[in-house]
Amino acid sequence: MLNVENVNLHYGAAQALRGVSITAPMGKITCVLGRNGVGKSSLLRAITGQHPVSGGEIRFEDKVLNGMAPFNRARHGVGYVPQGREIFPLLTVKENLETGYAPLSRKERSIPDDVFSLFPVLATMISRRGGDLSGGQQQQLAIGRAMVTRPKILVLDEPTEGIQPSIIKDIGRAIRYLRDSTGMAILLVEQYLDFCRELADHVYIMDRGEIVHEGPAEVLDTEEARRHLTV
Ligand SMILES: Nc1ncnc2c1ncn2[C@@H]1O[C@H](COP(=O)(O)OP(=O)(O)OP(=O)(O)O)[C@@H](O)[C@H]1O
Ligand SMILES: [Mg+2]
Repeated sequence: MLNVENVNLHYGAAQALRGVSITAPMGKITCVLGRNGVGKSSLLRAITGQHPVSGGEIRFEDKVLNGMAPFNRARHGVGYVPQGREIFPLLTVKENLETGYAPLSRKERSIPDDVFSLFPVLATMISRRGGDLSGGQQQQLAIGRAMVTRPKILVLDEPTEGIQPSIIKDIGRAIRYLRDSTGMAILLVEQYLDFCRELADHVYIMDRGEIVHEGPAEVLDTEEARRHLTV
């Protein structure tokens, strides 16, 4: 499992994470809810190594990740779907998926069939440029690219942001399938309460850089959650 213990993160003098502790067990979907600017992406940047922490410890399967380069975290099984998708607009769908080969050994380099069964549109559009896809299709591509790296934990930053409802359903189905079929850990950051409640096993709520509430999804107090999610 992933263990985040008492993590602090600063941008210059500004503190974005304050003593954040969460766990994300294998075979479970863990959701971190919070409104704009509370530090959700900062938490994922700390986990994936995009930004250094200024205190605390991050472990995955008992390996300390602190100080490890993002590339090496990917090799240790940390898959990342960043906010805003960050696909390569001038590369084709196939080439975008193949960028996921980077942390793999030569013999592991293939695109899993699951990518196309979960997101058939990617097969249809395999030679299309990434930049020509709709936002929802790009999100599916970003998840597919992370699946190519054969993650043991998949970390997703607001995958529903700006996506139409039918594709949100497909993404939810894919996330559930990945948990159930591979037993990977899934850490999902969201503002969309209903999506999170339907999908998650365990929920954390974040406010102003801190975890302010946590519990199993089935007993999530939606009034309390809504209070933290509205400005
Ligand atoms: N590169 C940066 N330099 C300085 N401050 C930053 C930087 N990135 C984020 N911040 C600040 O840190 C705080 C947390 O930002 P973060 O992006 O983690 O929030 P978030 O919960 O992901 O928000 P959103 O829902 O809008 O994506 C915010 O106050 C933000 O302005
Ligand atoms: Mg964010």
